[in-house]
Amino acid sequence: MKLFVDSGNIKDIETLAAIGIIDGVTTNPTLLAREPGDYRENLKKICEIVKGPVSGEVTSTDFAGMLQQGHDIAKIHQHMIVKVPLTRDGIRACKALSGEGIRVNVTLCFSAAQALLAAKAGATFVSPFVGRLDDVATNGMELIREIVDIYDNYDFTTDVLVASCRHPIHVVEAARMGADIATCPPAVIDQLFNHPLTSIGLEKFLKDWEKAQAVKA
Ligand code: G3P
Repeated sequence: MKLFVDSGNIKDIETLAAIGIIDGVTTNPTLLAREPGDYRENLKKICEIVKGPVSGEVTSTDFAGMLQQGHDIAKIHQHMIVKVPLTRDGIRACKALSGEGIRVNVTLCFSAAQALLAAKAGATFVSPFVGRLDDVATNGMELIREIVDIYDNYDFTTDVLVASCRHPIHVVEAARMGADIATCPPAVIDQLFNHPLTSIGLEKFLKDWEKAQAVKA
């Protein structure tokens, strides 16, 4: 399973990319609005850091505006993916942009029916938001299971990009279900590394080693 960072923060992305486990980046208008500087320049830098797919979202809500912004976003860098919302105009824009060879991530997906439409429109990625479903007392990961099943039934090539991941269990469940990608904020990626027994075990190994060196000296 691929792991993307859900962030527009260049420093955070640089730090995680240096470890070598990051396959791409997702952003949204909220995340980019938090960062200083020109968003296009920021997205270009991010593309150069990760050398993998980087999603940048349109803010227009009508078909013509989405097409225009989609073309602008795609021009930023070869790694850019155009993110469109799962609306009628968004699906139409997905179909048109995909037809031109521009890769599209259909975002704000909250149902299997919506995910089916994204696949039919030729989306490269669909982004179901698991955390936001959990927030409204609906099991977000159940939606991932449904989408993976549906896409498998028909060999759709759209990648299931599990978004709005709030904790490591979302990531582990996504991997168990065979989702293609999980995108996580930097803090959640940090949590993936942590286990108290790793820290305790390492501390003991190093103490034992030091003790043995002192005896031999
Ligand atoms: O980028 C979309 C998604 O990952 C947002 O997550 O935590 O704002 O629901 P969240």
